[in-house]
Amino acid sequence: MKKPVTVAITGAGGNIGYAIAFRIAAGDLFGPDQPVNLHLIEIEPVLPALTGVVMELNDCAFPTLNKIVATADFSTGFGDADYIFLIGSRPRGKGMERQDLLSANGAIFKPTGKAISQNAAKDVRVLVVGNPANTNALIALHNAPNLQPNQISSMMRLDHNRTISMLAEKVGKHSSTIKNVTVWGNHSTTQFPDLQHCTVNGVNAYDLIDMNWYRNEFIERVQKRGAEIIEARGASSAASAASAAIDHMRDWVLGSDGDSWVSMGTYSTGSYGVTSELMYSFPTHCSIREFNTIDDLELDEFSREMIALSEKELIKERDMIRWLLRD
Ligand code: LMR
Repeated sequence: MKKPVTVAITGAGGNIGYAIAFRIAAGDLFGPDQPVNLHLIEIEPVLPALTGVVMELNDCAFPTLNKIVATADFSTGFGDADYIFLIGSRPRGKGMERQDLLSANGAIFKPTGKAISQNAAKDVRVLVVGNPANTNALIALHNAPNLQPNQISSMMRLDHNRTISMLAEKVGKHSSTIKNVTVWGNHSTTQFPDLQHCTVNGVNAYDLIDMNWYRNEFIERVQKRGAEIIEARGASSAASAASAAIDHMRDWVLGSDGDSWVSMGTYSTGSYGVTSELMYSFPTHCSIREFNTIDDLELDEFSREMIALSEKELIKERDMIRWLLRD
């Protein structure tokens, strides 16, 4: 057996946390020969319930689970963490404006960034899942002076997977035949699920679909899938979000499939004309703990407009929380 790696999870007592902890403990992230230490982080009032999760994890007797720490203390929770999933965030309450939501989450992600910077392993990799994920990631990064931008990313993989699955259903093929989908921008209703370079069994998706359906139905369906699930379940997506988070981190750590790409929210350096210093989702290739934006795709006029719309929203979000960003 290899030396254990330490994985920290915030919001570990929530629905996504509950779904992800068991899968990571079972070896779904790093494989069957990599032991893991799980650091489960929650706010004080949730700690009693979290002891129940710890009991259940122990009761699974997973061969790959080495040690569990359950804590409300960031320095203990992030201590020597190699991988961090930031899942806990403040959900939107009744009557809450976007500004209130961003500020409430800023109050969480600013100290989170600081604590990661001070306590985690030097080469830690951090994935932000808690909404509004892109801007939460920006706040955490700006408050983590020991972290480089390539050590933090925000989750768009749920949107990426939704795009694949809905296209697969439409064209009557299995999702595994679909490659090179991109979901650009923000994890919000301005995100752009882009099929221009997507292939189905090697055939360009544009040749298989009705463009009217694509522009007027498909895009909006993907954009609003989160709300559709909330409406049906009476609660946010949980297992699919946990699964997407594992997909995202696994590809980041072990490499994405061949020359195909995935969608990841990463710190913009100006690719495709997107303003720098935003966490924006781009087509991204991963190889062993690194990611690189694929920055040379030809884009049609429609795609450029959609990309700019989501950029505009993220700039607005950044302006609302600028006071939380370190200079
Ligand atoms: C999702 O996309 O399913 C969630 O981010 C929706 C939400 O608001 O929790």
